[in-house]
Amino acid sequence: MRFFLAIYSLLTAATLLVVGSAARSPTNLTLTGHITPDQIFSFVNTPSKALALNSLDLGIFDPHGVGATNSETGFSGSRGWSGGFRNNFTLSGWDATPGYSAGPLLLGTWNVVLGPYATNRSGIDWTLDISLSYDVPSDSVLWSPALAPIYKQTFPASSPSRWLRGDFHMHSIYSDGRYLPSEQIAHALEYNLDFIFFSEHNTDSGNNNIGRWIPANASNLLIGRAIEVTTRHGHWQAIGLERFQQVDWRHTNASNDTGYVDAATQVRNSGGIVSINHPFENCSRCDWTLDWEHNDAIEVWNGRFDDKDEMAIKFWQSELVKGKKITALRGSDAHSPPDINGLPTTVVKVEDEKSQLSIVEGVKRGRVYLVEGPGMKLDFGVVYAGGSKKADIGNIIARTDLDNNSYASFSATGFQGAKACFVTEVGYVKNVSIVNAQQIQHGVAAMEFIRVEVRNGSDILLGLTNPIYFS
Ligand SMILES: *[C@@H]1O[C@H](CO)[C@@H](O)[C@H](O)[C@H]1NC(C)=O
Ligand SMILES: *[C@@H]1O[C@H](CO)[C@@H](O)[C@H](O)[C@H]1NC(C)=O
Ligand SMILES: *[C@@H]1O[C@H](CO)[C@@H](O)[C@H](O)[C@H]1NC(C)=O
Ligand SMILES: *[C@@H]1O[C@H](CO)[C@@H](O)[C@H](O)[C@H]1NC(C)=O
Ligand SMILES: *[C@@H]1O[C@H](CO)[C@@H](O)[C@H](O)[C@H]1NC(C)=O
Ligand SMILES: *[C@@H]1O[C@H](CO)[C@@H](O)[C@H](O)[C@H]1NC(C)=O
Ligand SMILES: *[C@@H]1O[C@H](CO)[C@@H](O)[C@H](O)[C@H]1NC(C)=O
Ligand SMILES: *[C@@H]1O[C@H](CO)[C@@H](O)[C@H](O)[C@H]1NC(C)=O
Ligand SMILES: *[C@@H]1O[C@H](CO)[C@@H](O)[C@H](O)[C@H]1NC(C)=O
Ligand SMILES: *[C@@H]1O[C@H](CO)[C@@H](O)[C@H](O)[C@H]1NC(C)=O
Repeated sequence: MRFFLAIYSLLTAATLLVVGSAARSPTNLTLTGHITPDQIFSFVNTPSKALALNSLDLGIFDPHGVGATNSETGFSGSRGWSGGFRNNFTLSGWDATPGYSAGPLLLGTWNVVLGPYATNRSGIDWTLDISLSYDVPSDSVLWSPALAPIYKQTFPASSPSRWLRGDFHMHSIYSDGRYLPSEQIAHALEYNLDFIFFSEHNTDSGNNNIGRWIPANASNLLIGRAIEVTTRHGHWQAIGLERFQQVDWRHTNASNDTGYVDAATQVRNSGGIVSINHPFENCSRCDWTLDWEHNDAIEVWNGRFDDKDEMAIKFWQSELVKGKKITALRGSDAHSPPDINGLPTTVVKVEDEKSQLSIVEGVKRGRVYLVEGPGMKLDFGVVYAGGSKKADIGNIIARTDLDNNSYASFSATGFQGAKACFVTEVGYVKNVSIVNAQQIQHGVAAMEFIRVEVRNGSDILLGLTNPIYFS
């Protein structure tokens, strides 16, 4: 029997432990190498951080190969990824380190992928310690997938649409979080969320195991499938994936690299959406420098509202002014205590049913508003056509249907004392103090879009609607 480990791509010291059926007696081998500076991805050196640390990304591909994820089937040989979070993992037919996929240890060439985040100008020496053994525990059971059940609740024809509260961005032990999925689920129940999407970095292993972590009292919580695609040029969210769908992450910003567009197209073609995460985040290659043209949504609010989110909102506004219809999303990005999912909350209007599909569709159509947390509710619409029609967030109204009595109407609960700021393509047009549940009106005429931000006395964002558009 032969079992090879080949190095696909680069760098630094790693300890790799593979336990499998490769040999009857344990075989240990050590591979070493040196990465020269020209092989290292160039890096913007922020003071101290970048040069002092050599952080290694680690992942593995089985003999199905390292080729890009196939756009037809979504299949590639990826068997897991732990980024810079781990320096070792195990893989067997019955178990795997979280982030990795248990299953048959196929005969052939396996590729370890190593990638540096921070670089050393002298280059980097790496070592892989590999241990192969044939050691089936007497109580072992071959691994089988445990996905979250497919959730679908059909609404009665008498009330076919609903606003659902949730979170599209959170992590667990299946990538670099310390939360168990069950702990994230418990928080979602506590905050009365209708849906959550786990989004582990570059691995489907969380999605494929989440079913093991769902308590009986979570039967009303929709658990959707997402992956946070973590590249050298920022992070994007693939939301609403098929079962077992993988997404390629090895894109660069080289002008001849179509990797991002290919991966984004694959996600869209399978019914999902593509969102840029924390586009201006100030950490090693977390900010988005890849492609601003092929995305459905943008995470303008990541965790606690800060300056980077303010920049994202300004950028989003400039995209809206250009005539793009990109949905603003938020994500808690909750990894570990004390982060809590649902802080802040994304609220999506769905039609006919509560399902992954209807939620994704709601986001595609911009039927989304964002609030800081529980107990906060927004109601925004445009009354037009002689008062006979009311458009909702995300809708497009024909300008010919407007008359001099058309107006935008806004009310909010849970924001007493904050101000509602009406925003159009010319910027802030009107600020009004919010009185609980009291309607605020603003006339609409020749404009491209109108949306509302809710801000408090410190100018901190507490809520935001996506626009209603005019055409
Ligand atoms: C092989 O590696 C494993 C894991 O590091 C270790 O427990 C074992 O002692 C090693 N065996 C030999 C023969 O070196
Ligand atoms: C950079 O690499 C050199 C040679 O491998 C090593 O001696 C040095 O300690 C490294 N520096 C840092 C900051 O890691
Ligand atoms: C392997 O990884 C685990 C968990 O990340 C860590 O606790 C342990 O120290 C690592 N083992 C070695 C030999 O580095
Ligand atoms: C759901 O059940 C888990 C234990 O299975 C418990 O810890 C949690 O408090 C329950 N949550 C609610 C909202 O009932
Ligand atoms: C590619 O990304 C790197 C790092 O984010 C950046 O420094 C460089 O300017 C980018 N190149 C292009 C052509 O966008
Ligand atoms: C892109 O161009 C670089 C050199 O400019 C070349 O090394 C690389 O192979 C090209 N990649 C593709 C996918 O054509
Ligand atoms: C990014 O962070 C570094 C160090 O934490 C800081 O020096 C720098 O000013 C920050 N840049 C921005 C644009 O916030
Ligand atoms: C709106 O009012 C202006 C005058 O204030 C008038 O010229 C215009 O015809 C009115 N438009 C509609 C659609 O009623
Ligand atoms: C409305 O509030 C926004 C956000 O705080 C502020 O930038 C703007 O200047 C205000 N506009 C008016 C007319 O007060
Ligand atoms: C605005 O909201 C932030 C975040 O909730 C809070 O820290 C701050 O104290 C609030 N400011 C005012 C004036 O209420």
